Amino acid sequence: MEVYTASITMTICIIAVPKHVPKMRKQIVAGNWKMNCTIDEGKRLVSEVVQLMQNEIQNNAEVIFIPPYIHLTNLSEQLLTNDTLYLGAQNCHQNKSGAYTGEVSATMIKSCGATHVIIGHSERREYFSESDALLAEKVNTVLENDLTPIFCCGERLESREVNTQEAVVGEQVRNALFHLSTEEIAKMVIAYEPVWAIGTGKTASAEQAQEMHAFIRETIAEKYSNEIADSISILYGGSVKPENATEIFSQPDVDGGLIGGASLKSRDFVDIVKAFD
Ligand code: PGA
Repeated sequence: MEVYTASITMTICIIAVPKHVPKMRKQIVAGNWKMNCTIDEGKRLVSEVVQLMQNEIQNNAEVIFIPPYIHLTNLSEQLLTNDTLYLGAQNCHQNKSGAYTGEVSATMIKSCGATHVIIGHSERREYFSESDALLAEKVNTVLENDLTPIFCCGERLESREVNTQEAVVGEQVRNALFHLSTEEIAKMVIAYEPVWAIGTGKTASAEQAQEMHAFIRETIAEKYSNEIADSISILYGGSVKPENATEIFSQPDVDGGLIGGASLKSRDFVDIVKAFD
């Protein structure tokens, strides 16, 4: 009788397994400091965040500090003993080395102990005229150095107003990423950051974020596969704050946030990480 029950249970289990099981995606909160913080201010900010996180955070979200280059080495030493906190750079040059005054290569970033690099932030696209073709090269050099690119995409207000946001974002993703192999695209993190929501206090609604994240995932699935698309973390960025993080992060296709202004205040940043508790 016991044997019989066990075999029934087993049969039910097998039938209940869904055909397509999406891989659990990493939940990520990345703080993009932009051009802020002296060395001392940076050290202080990170100590405060680490302290608050130790006391308060229950979840396993990956937390990435993305300061200006000058902080990388110091912060890498400061974070050495902590294996849930990561370090990233805000940009890198597309070439390995050479006569490019003022630039920093992915190899140099890696040598500082960083693990991630933001590529294609809208401020780079806008103020430094970074094109999709250039971003494709930067993605390559980041991957060649075994670093994780956080590729940013997002439409401007004009596009949102005439409802062409999916065409714009689809093109950004295709142009900068679709030359990658399956193994390479699987290593990407993508951040959807509508330009009209960055630093403006205007957040995309949770529905708008979900809609675009699902669209990005679908675009990747069409070219690669559902498995690959389901495994890539897609972050939302643009005026994320403790007050709106829980709602945005709870959307099925939103896997965390790329945080600008609020990453400069330890209390706010940790409260945003807490949204995953
Ligand atoms: P914000 O910036 O949170 O200040 O809007 C986000 C970003 O630019 O990454």
